[in-house]
Amino acid sequence: MPMHGDETCREAGASSEAPSSGTACSPLSGADDRETVPSPGDGAASSSSVRPPLRLEALTVFPEMFEPIMSTSIMGRARRAGIFEFEAHDLRDWTHDHHRTVDDAPFGGGQGMLMKPAPFYEAIDDLCPQDDPACVVFFTPTGERFNQKLAQQLSQESRILFVCGHYEGMDERAYRLATRCVSIGDYVLTGGELAALVVCDAVVRLLPGALGDDDSARFESFSDDGLLEYAQYTRPASYRGMDVPPVLLSGNHANVDRWRKADALVRTCELRPDLIAGARLTDRERFVAARVRERLEVGGSSREALVEFAYAALR
Ligand code: ADE
Repeated sequence: MPMHGDETCREAGASSEAPSSGTACSPLSGADDRETVPSPGDGAASSSSVRPPLRLEALTVFPEMFEPIMSTSIMGRARRAGIFEFEAHDLRDWTHDHHRTVDDAPFGGGQGMLMKPAPFYEAIDDLCPQDDPACVVFFTPTGERFNQKLAQQLSQESRILFVCGHYEGMDERAYRLATRCVSIGDYVLTGGELAALVVCDAVVRLLPGALGDDDSARFESFSDDGLLEYAQYTRPASYRGMDVPPVLLSGNHANVDRWRKADALVRTCELRPDLIAGARLTDRERFVAARVRERLEVGGSSREALVEFAYAALR
């Protein structure tokens, strides 16, 4: 059988390890592994950097949930541009009874119904033969927590099959099919479809060409320096008594960059202090972050005052 893990990924600590076959979704498989192909309409200069479309698929009892999102906005545009492909498979196509049953009562009693293992095994046997492996991502609240780093890893894959559970969960043996088990947060959804759509969105926008300006995926929260994104403003410069910070109107790019760093530092110290330790900061920035946190602990300083302080201290 292709790419089935040796243990359930939940027993393996919601493992981010590749299955023993190592055929798909290895955290070690990087961008360099991806084959490059010439782009039909492109000139020779750009053809070497064009990647084949990322193949995204979902295995679900509600395939109709995906199409509206997958054909709208940036995901729709990227899909039409051939940056990724998407196909939803109906799990019930791998059932054998008249009612196309995918669930059953749990052994040992208990509330609700569980998804049976057989339709998952049969579907994945068919969908992922040896010569066409996929990274198989199961969604469960007990999986590893989805974050930007995982989005980046998944964006390097060539094929991902998202497996969406429903009801009270799945028979534990189904999880053995997973390359990774993923949770999008500490709350329980009615099924994995919305989680799969969240992950698709976060992954697709990282694909080259998906966003108008590739930089916009780089200068934002959870990427690059590891801080939350700084505040941004557009016209008018003054609205209902709220003024854009004057430095942003100054045209002095060094000062604008320094203000943005100060704002990102303060925002992160205030809202996500847990990110500071792992952020890529200079010694000076780390020192300023520590002073900002002291001031936050004492209290009484407005956000604006803290940004002013950090802006001056970063000089
Ligand atoms: N299925 C149900 N809840 C979920 C969650 N929080 N993340 C991923 N899949 C889920």
